Amino acid sequence: MSEAPAYGSGDATFQAAGGEAGIRALVNTFYDIMDTDTRFATIRRMHPEQLDVSRDKLALFLCGWMGGPRLFREKYGAITIPGVHAHLSVTANERDQWLACMAAALEQQAYPDSLVRYLLEQLAVPAERIRQVNA
Ligand code: HEM
Repeated sequence: MSEAPAYGSGDATFQAAGGEAGIRALVNTFYDIMDTDTRFATIRRMHPEQLDVSRDKLALFLCGWMGGPRLFREKYGAITIPGVHAHLSVTANERDQWLACMAAALEQQAYPDSLVRYLLEQLAVPAERIRQVNA
């Protein structure tokens, strides 16, 4: 049996994360946790009351970000990640809440530890970029 390709090569990360269905499940868990766990109240308040569009947008964005189909761009058009957060005040506190909420959501998926670690490392890069631009 050949080894699975390394995360980050082609669409390997997208496939390992369960494709669009797996990423939608991850994002639903992420927003369910944000909506109910008071540790994330600060970033929850930054979002609209109805989270349906936020769920759809983050899931479709992450499909392309993980090397899969560019579903966000097809549906909503081109964006930059710092740009779409420009109206928000993101300090280290909001950055860390977002990453901790994502860590909790990742733990609830049936993902190998290596994928959880990889995604958290990679997501920390745009999260820190948002902080630099929008603090
Ligand atoms: C650094 C911590 C972050 C915070 C506090 C944060 C917060 C938010 C909030 C409040 C919204 C909704 C904005 C609105 O509807 O007015 C949003 C939208 C979004 N976020 Fe984040 N976010 C963070 C990091 C990230 C990261 C790391 C990614 C992707 C890798 C991401 C991807 C998106 C996308 C795709 C949208 C939808 C943009 C649109 O409206 O078209 N966010 N974020």
